[in-house]
Amino acid sequence: MCNSIIVILFVLLKLASSNTVPDEFSFNGCLKLDGLAEADPNGLLTLTTGLGRGVAHVFFNLPLQFKNSTAGSISSFSTTFVFAMVPEYPKLGGHGLAFVISPSKDIPGALPCQYLGLFNDTNIGNSSNHIIAVELDTVQDFEFDDRDDNHVGIDINTLISNISKTAGYFDDQTGTFHELYLKSGDPMQIWIEYNGTKEQLNVTIHPVGETRPIRPLLSMTFDLSPYILDFMYVGFSSATGLLASSQYILGWNFKMDGQAQDLEISKLPKIPQSLGEKKGSKKLLQIILGVTLSVAGLTLISLVVLGALFVSRKKKFMEILEDWEVQYGPHRFTYKDLFVATKGFKENELLGSGGFGRVYRGTLPSSNTKIAVKRISHDSRQGMREFLAEISTIGRLRHPNLVRLLGYCRRHHELFLVYDYMPNGSLEKCLSNKSNCTLDWSQRFKIIKDVASGLFYLHQQWVQVVIHRDIKPANVLLDNDMNGKLGDFGLARFCDHGNDPQTSNIAGTLGYIAPELARTGRANTSTDLYAFGIFMLEVVCGRRLIEPRSQLQDQQFLVDWILECWDRGTILDTVDSKLENRYVAQEVELVLKLGLLCSHPCAAARPSMSSVVQYLDGIAQLPDTIRASIIQAHTSMENSNQPSVAPDVSTERYSNPSLTFTESFASHGR
Ligand SMILES: *[C@@H]1O[C@H](CO)[C@@H](O)[C@H](O)[C@H]1NC(C)=O
Ligand SMILES: *[C@@H]1O[C@H](CO)[C@@H](O)[C@H](O)[C@H]1NC(C)=O
Ligand SMILES: *[C@@H]1O[C@H](CO)[C@@H](O)[C@H](O)[C@H]1NC(C)=O
Ligand SMILES: *[C@@H]1O[C@H](CO)[C@@H](O)[C@H](O)[C@H]1NC(C)=O
Ligand SMILES: *[C@@H]1O[C@H](CO)[C@@H](O)[C@H](O)[C@H]1NC(C)=O
Ligand SMILES: *[C@@H]1O[C@H](CO)[C@@H](O)[C@H](O)[C@H]1NC(C)=O
Repeated sequence: MCNSIIVILFVLLKLASSNTVPDEFSFNGCLKLDGLAEADPNGLLTLTTGLGRGVAHVFFNLPLQFKNSTAGSISSFSTTFVFAMVPEYPKLGGHGLAFVISPSKDIPGALPCQYLGLFNDTNIGNSSNHIIAVELDTVQDFEFDDRDDNHVGIDINTLISNISKTAGYFDDQTGTFHELYLKSGDPMQIWIEYNGTKEQLNVTIHPVGETRPIRPLLSMTFDLSPYILDFMYVGFSSATGLLASSQYILGWNFKMDGQAQDLEISKLPKIPQSLGEKKGSKKLLQIILGVTLSVAGLTLISLVVLGALFVSRKKKFMEILEDWEVQYGPHRFTYKDLFVATKGFKENELLGSGGFGRVYRGTLPSSNTKIAVKRISHDSRQGMREFLAEISTIGRLRHPNLVRLLGYCRRHHELFLVYDYMPNGSLEKCLSNKSNCTLDWSQRFKIIKDVASGLFYLHQQWVQVVIHRDIKPANVLLDNDMNGKLGDFGLARFCDHGNDPQTSNIAGTLGYIAPELARTGRANTSTDLYAFGIFMLEVVCGRRLIEPRSQLQDQQFLVDWILECWDRGTILDTVDSKLENRYVAQEVELVLKLGLLCSHPCAAARPSMSSVVQYLDGIAQLPDTIRASIIQAHTSMENSNQPSVAPDVSTERYSNPSLTFTESFASHGR
């Protein structure tokens, strides 16, 4: 979950009108301001949000009557606006912009990032929201079934669009589709029109200055009246995530019961030149609004205001910022923020510590968001650049089963990584005998599926293949509802780097390292699968892979023990006794066999994550031949004495110098 920040807004409208309904009114300076927004007497607005992850709202300050419940009918309306999205760095930008019809003009509790400042994770999808939005979405969020990272969609009470299409327009003559790149920085014009009689909503988008295409991009026939209240506000919502971008509204006309007037393109304000590069200041989010509203026949002449914002950062808390790092700028937290959030890295805020550093709990003062801050010392610059490039990738990963990395900070010999706080800590803690948290079978099965789905995303659904490198219960964290989330992608490699330049790239945790990884040092999706297989076995059996102090000799090595039991037809004997026989035998067997298949000593025999997901969902059946194949592989490994968990291995193996034993610093949860 992303942390919410500040809302801003302003609409400074001067209404010169004389007519009936809302009688003559003039509300110059009537601003809707929240959080840290400031206005100067000229109507210049300064908006401050934290670094990245900001929300901005602009609403017309008066409610409009969309329907009369007594009379029953819903009005037609028509609106057009010109917008531009200017990302801070080419192709890397915020989450987008939405035109919104809302019961209130502040949308309390709404989150930035993929929530676009419209919803939060509790109210999303709830019909009591009464929010209708047309989203211009520039990030592909799988949790909302987004089709791509450049689309227009119609959303009702949720961000799973009822209908959406890649942004673009159809040529009137030829019917060809021309894609428009929303984040190009070029101004574009949108038309949103609803006919209350036909119950049809159309959305059209085209480059500014060109004639409006006849064929709409989106057209949806449906009755808006259940979603709309009699009086609603209209406006815009926009959000940034790790990466900032500037969203501008250059002009806006709105009309009830009739067609909105076209905008006079020549009179639109210019988009300001980039304000970004100034040293020591950071432009975050700006909205310029030139508004002309015509409501029910009234002509409201408006004016335009704009906000630009700068946060000047005092460098009293020294940080390291190198030239090449500027491209990752928006991911950075200030050391000061983290210092304040964790109360000065106080011992009481310590969640745990491991081989690579300590994890602190914190609360960001600007937004009250709970975070976990991992403090890692690093001695060299070696690997840092590569690692930060990876962070920039990781920061853009969006999946409900991945712990979200919010950003980082660098200072002296320290690196700070900021994550979402996971209230239920790590799965390892939960599985251990010491904890008082107990997980029943359905929870465990769900967590296994959660992790599988997160890993499937990393391996096969994201634009790049991301290798996790350190899958184990300690790196699976549990949220409030005991959903499993995978954390710490790619960190094993980095930590290995900082640690011991002599060793090759082998990183991970002993026991989870596939035999060929130990041999070649090359991590790939199949070595992740190996670790995931072991992970599944541990979750079912509620114990670690190797229990050196186990009373029962033959149970010391988990994999061998399970194989033996399977051979005897008593595979269910291996199930965690804490489950007290309350489990679904079929599911347990499936997970155990799948665990063995994934941790097959021979990489080629391991399935892909997409197959794993299908097996777990019962869409595909495990092949019958796996047992023979696994047993044969294990036997031949014992004979050839490969590093594996063969029964004659003593615990000395832990210090085998050819392996780097990287206890992940996440192992103590957050
Ligand atoms: C709704 O319609 C009824 C009947 O036509 C009318 O009496 C009432 O004033 C209308 N209400 C509003 C808020 O316009
Ligand atoms: C989510 O939004 C609703 C309605 O705006 C608000 O009442 C609620 O407190 C928010 N929840 C969280 C967790 O912020
Ligand atoms: C929807 O929101 C209302 C009011 O905030 C709340 O009472 C209700 O429980 C919510 N429904 C669901 C399904 O979350
Ligand atoms: C649109 O989505 C809403 C909320 O998900 C749903 O209730 C409604 O049935 C959908 N309408 C159409 C026309 O698909
Ligand atoms: C939507 O577009 C179609 C196709 O151009 C048109 O026939 C219809 O009148 C439009 N509806 C509205 C509400 O503008
Ligand atoms: C809505 O559609 C009806 C029937 O096609 C048409 O007569 C009416 O003029 C349309 N209203 C608006 C506001 O376009």
